[in-house]
Amino acid sequence: MKRGKKLFMFPMILVFFSFVLYGCGNKNQKSADVNLSVTQKQESDSNDSKKILVAYFSCTGNTKGVAKLIASETGADLYEITPKIPYTDEDLNYNNSNSRATKEQNDDNARPEIEGKKLDISQYDTIVVATPLWDLDAPRIISTFLESYDFTGKTLIPVCTSYSSEPSGVEKRMHSVCKSNVTWKPIKRFGTNFSENEVKEWVDSWQ
Ligand SMILES: Cc1cc2nc3c(=O)[nH]c(=O)nc-3n(C[C@H](O)[C@H](O)[C@H](O)COP(=O)(O)O)c2cc1C
Repeated sequence: MKRGKKLFMFPMILVFFSFVLYGCGNKNQKSADVNLSVTQKQESDSNDSKKILVAYFSCTGNTKGVAKLIASETGADLYEITPKIPYTDEDLNYNNSNSRATKEQNDDNARPEIEGKKLDISQYDTIVVATPLWDLDAPRIISTFLESYDFTGKTLIPVCTSYSSEPSGVEKRMHSVCKSNVTWKPIKRFGTNFSENEVKEWVDSWQ
């Protein structure tokens, strides 16, 4: 080849290879992009399918405190089971055999009404049901709540707070009133002096 022609060919070859290399690099970039979006989708799918609801009933704030900590630890939605007729201090007097709470707890069929419209529970697959313990049992409004929805296919996690009593009566009540085919996790009880760390540790044990 003449010297002049060689000098002309050399930049052409360089340009050709630059195109080839750019093309390969771009292809790899594209496939990396595809993989990234699949991973992101898988992540968002798995987050979607793990949506948690923390439903709680609380009259004096202890269970509400626990429920809020669980929700903030898990990123769950929070729902308050609000009685249509609020409980007064006198209603909650368990030393009075005629108080509203005592009478309701003595009646297996009592179903205090819940305020507000029904929840859309289809978006949740795990539902934490948090309640105070009343007379070794779950308050009857928890029966109202558990009978109000079809929880079939969902995981239910019972939680209760109490002064000192163990939670087996609450767990038994929840199992017996909920007619849906669900997966139950064991009940967790917190004392009225629960700590933030205690709640976090428990959440970490199942999340
Ligand atoms: C009507 C009633 C009955 C209760 N019965 C018990 C009981 O049997 N054992 C116990 O340890 N605590 C009992 N407690 C205390 C509550 O379980 C405890 O204070 C709980 O944390 C209250 O939750 P809250 O603040 O979310 O309403 C009772 C409280 C009330 C109002």
